[in-house]
Amino acid sequence: MQNFSFKNPTKLIFGKDSISTLSKEIPTGAKVLLLFGGGSVKRNGVYEQVTNALKEYDTKEFWGIESNPKVETCRDAIAVGRAHGSDFVLAVGGGSVIDAAKLISASLLSDKDPWDIVRRGVAKGPFVPLGTVLTIPATGSEMNRGSVISKGETKEKFAFYGQFPIFSIIDPEVTYSLPKYQLACGVADSFAHILEQYMTYPGQSRVMDRWAEGLLLTLQEIGPKVVWEAPDYDLRCDFMVTATMALNGFIAWGVVEDWSTHMIGHELTALCNITHGHSLAVVFPALLRVMKNHGKREKLLQYADRVWGITAGNEEKRIEAAIAMTEGFFRSIGLSTRLEENAIGEDIIEEIVHRFRERKVQFGEKGLVDAEKTNEILHLALPKSDTLPAVRPLE
Ligand code: NZQ
Ligand code: ZN
Repeated sequence: MQNFSFKNPTKLIFGKDSISTLSKEIPTGAKVLLLFGGGSVKRNGVYEQVTNALKEYDTKEFWGIESNPKVETCRDAIAVGRAHGSDFVLAVGGGSVIDAAKLISASLLSDKDPWDIVRRGVAKGPFVPLGTVLTIPATGSEMNRGSVISKGETKEKFAFYGQFPIFSIIDPEVTYSLPKYQLACGVADSFAHILEQYMTYPGQSRVMDRWAEGLLLTLQEIGPKVVWEAPDYDLRCDFMVTATMALNGFIAWGVVEDWSTHMIGHELTALCNITHGHSLAVVFPALLRVMKNHGKREKLLQYADRVWGITAGNEEKRIEAAIAMTEGFFRSIGLSTRLEENAIGEDIIEEIVHRFRERKVQFGEKGLVDAEKTNEILHLALPKSDTLPAVRPLE
C-alpha cells in the first residue's frame, strides 16, 4: 500500500424528507445563490421542497445549467451571483449542476476567468461555501472535490479540483422521476468509477479490493432492477449509497488509479454529446481488451473470479469472459456498447487521437494509454456485432 493522506469533510444527510432540514445547514442570514438544471426539479416537487425550506433566506435563482455544464453558462451564473452578493451556493440537481456550482463558488470571489481555473486543474479559493441537494445517483460529485466543465466554443471538456460540498442532502425518493436512460447511465458511471480505482494490478490492498468488489457486486445485483423495475425505496437507497461511495475517495486509499476510460469518454462527450455514463459503457470493455496485455492481466483474473464467479477455463478464456460479462452488464441495463451503435465513426476517433497526440497524453496507472493505444481502443469499440447481447430499448 502507498502512503496516503485523506480527508473528506462533506456531511451527508440521507433519507426520506431530508430536504426539509436544509435550513439547519445554511447559516442564518446567508444570501443563497440557488443553481438548477433544465427544470426536472419543478416537475418532481424538489424545487417546492427546497424553496419551502429556504423561506427565511434571501435567495436568487439561476436556471439552465445543462448536462455537461459549459463554462459559458457558469459565467452567466457568476454574474448573477455577484449582482446578488451571494455568500452561499446551493446546487439542486445532478452532477452537472453540482460541478458547475463548484466552478461558480470558486469564481465568485476571484478575478480569474473560470476557464483559467478549470485549466489550472485546481482552484485555490477563496471559495463561497457550497451545499448540494442531489437528484441523480451517478457522479459522486456530492461528496468529492472534482468538477468537469466543458467549453462549448471549442468542444473541450476538462476536470479540475474545487472544494468539497459542506453538506449534501440525498433523498432517494427524488430519484423516482428519473428516466430509465439516466438511471442506466448512473449505474454505468458508478460501475466505471469503481473499476477506474480497482482495475489496475493486485497486491496493493486487500481492504480496497474487497471494498471495491463489494460495490461492484452490489451494482451487478441491483443495476438491472433499478433500471427496469418500478421504483423501490430500499433499492434506490443502496444505489445512492453505492454511487456516492464509488467516488468519494474511500476506495482509493493507498492504491494506484487508472482513469483513462474517463479521459477518452470525456472527448466522446465533448465532440458527440453522448451522455457521460454511456460513453464509459462504450470505452471500458474495449480498453480492458487492449490493456489486458499491458498490466491488467492479474487484476482481470481476480475480477473474473470474485465479481463474475468465473473460475473455469484457461487464463485467456477467463479474462475474455469477464470482459464479455462487463459489456453484457452494460447492455443488460439498456446501454449499447459500440460507437457505431451511437452513430459515432472514424472521423471522431481521428479527432480524439489527434488531440491526444498534440497533448502527448499518458493516461492510466502506468501512463501507458497514449494516443496510439487510444486509437486501438476506439477501433475495438467501433463495430456493431451480431454476437453481442441485444439491447432492450430504454424509454
Ligand atoms: O437538467 P434537469 O432538468 O434537472 O434534468 C437532468 C438532466 O437532463 C435529469 N435529472 C436529474 N435529476 C433528475 C432528472 N430528471 C428527473 N428526475 C430527477 N430526479 O437528468 C439529466 C442528467 O443530469 P446530469 O446532472 O447531467 O447527470 P449526472 O449526474 O450524470 O452528471 C453528469 C456530469 O457530471 C460529470 C460528467 O462528466 C457530466 O458532465 N462528472 C462529474 C464527476 C465528479 N464531479 O466527480 C465525475 C464523473 O465521472 C463525471 O465526469
Ligand atoms: Zn464518471
